[in-house]
Amino acid sequence: MSKNKDQLIAAAREAATKAYAPYSDYQVGAALLFDDGAIITGTNVENASYGLTVCAENVAVARAFGEGRRGGLTAVAVVGPLDKGDGSPITPCGRCRQVLNEIAGLGGTDPVIYCVGRDEVREVTLAQLLPHAFGPSHLD
Ligand code: THU
Repeated sequence: MSKNKDQLIAAAREAATKAYAPYSDYQVGAALLFDDGAIITGTNVENASYGLTVCAENVAVARAFGEGRRGGLTAVAVVGPLDKGDGSPITPCGRCRQVLNEIAGLGGTDPVIYCVGRDEVREVTLAQLLPHAFGPSHLD
């Protein structure tokens, strides 16, 4: 495993411990790696009005935008609870794929996504998860 990959997954795991998920009890952590080495994390944030829940990836992207980032996204790690379901790696939900595509598209990158499961880390690119994506370049 590369150092970057290890660090990114560790950051996502650490982020998951800060999740606010009292309704689903499903803690998710996401970590974004940028081309300058910066890592920005997010957790899911649930709400008593259930439909207002925000996913971990979405929070991480919002934080990145809030820090002025507009591209440069090279990798993402996502981790859910490893003791739930069949332990297979979770992948970003559809909305999160589109949200990730916004910041990736601004910098013209196709980040690798490390989807962390109980026994494996599945590596896919964002373009594989969201083929034929609509993005910022369509509005030029
Ligand atoms: N969740 C994420 O944070 N990211 C995903 O990509 C899928 C789902 C969260 C939302 C909710 O708080 C919990 O997982 C259960 O759906």
